[in-house]
Amino acid sequence: MDVGEALRRQALACANLGSPMYAALCERLADDLAAGGPTSVVLAGHEDDPGPSALALRLLGSVHRLVLERRAGALAAYYPSVGGTWEPEAGWLALRALLAEEPDPVREWLDRPPQTNEVGRATALMAGLLSLPWAHPVRLFEIGSSGGLNLLADHFRYVTPDGSVGPAESPVVLDPAWTGALPLREPPPVVERLGSDVMPVDVRTTEGRLTLTAYVWPDQTHRLERLRGAFALADRIPYALRREPAGDLVAGLELVDGATTVLWHSVMWQYLGRDEQDRVRASIDALGARATAAAPFAHVYLEPSRRTPDAEHEFLVWLETWPTGERRVLGASVGHGVPTHVE
Ligand SMILES: C[S@@+](CC[C@H](N)C(=O)[O-])C[C@H]1O[C@@H](n2cnc3c(N)ncnc32)[C@H](O)[C@@H]1O
Repeated sequence: MDVGEALRRQALACANLGSPMYAALCERLADDLAAGGPTSVVLAGHEDDPGPSALALRLLGSVHRLVLERRAGALAAYYPSVGGTWEPEAGWLALRALLAEEPDPVREWLDRPPQTNEVGRATALMAGLLSLPWAHPVRLFEIGSSGGLNLLADHFRYVTPDGSVGPAESPVVLDPAWTGALPLREPPPVVERLGSDVMPVDVRTTEGRLTLTAYVWPDQTHRLERLRGAFALADRIPYALRREPAGDLVAGLELVDGATTVLWHSVMWQYLGRDEQDRVRASIDALGARATAAAPFAHVYLEPSRRTPDAEHEFLVWLETWPTGERRVLGASVGHGVPTHVE
């Protein structure tokens, strides 16, 4: 797939995922590339990047970072993330001017993989915590944790037409968190929080916050609000984040009497090589074999997956528990996690 085609595919994906702004910009970038405009200068050298490297999102993330840093001149007026109003024609012309006048700053982030931490996906984790068959306190572990924000899931507020879960004053409100059938009750207390990632983001730094904010699509202000709310929580609720591959974290897990050990992950499995996937799975099965009623173990995950080998991929939420031996689809979610439909 060439870069122009990748930009047009990204335009379609952004349209389907609720970002008319990025859908329009990706189309205009593709047209400008084909016409030999400033886009072709900025993307020079990246013509052979593979499709999965998401060059369009690297480029737009880099531009958004310049907007957030107030280094993008007139373009900020069209970015809702900084109080602007999106206008397709004028917005594109302002972006084109930035690419023409400041190609080097825009190119700075083209080699970085987009790094996100999607707070809305906590709906899947919390559906799992509310479905546990035990009332023990929870020790929460996450692989592919990014900034670790979903380790704070019990501090978010989950709103449904039938009631809410979580602190009333939480700065993170997920509404509607769930559709379908989920018992609304107090979740078990979380007594330990540890995440790992090969590229962890320290959200207590300006650089970390800038990184995660820049890759949120600027017209999706609800996602930005959730992220900012989670940053505020991260300032006051301690959790640990390690630079460590998933396989190592899971291999080192132990179960503890009197607590439910929960391993959770979302939209990270596809980034593991086959060997690491097998290693994580083997460690999970070994933990399950050691679990007891006093020291139970649960695996909750939201990953693009299939219900049966021939089915289509969906964003499914899975729950596995030991020693109870349960394994089931809890529900289906959407890419950004809000809402999760509980079955
Ligand atoms: C799409 S992001 C999802 C982040 C977060 N789980 C969420 O849902 O917002 C995928 C994450 O997986 C991490 N990752 C990729 N390979 C990994 C590995 N082998 N071990 C641990 N984390 C990995 C990436 O650095 C990235 O933070």
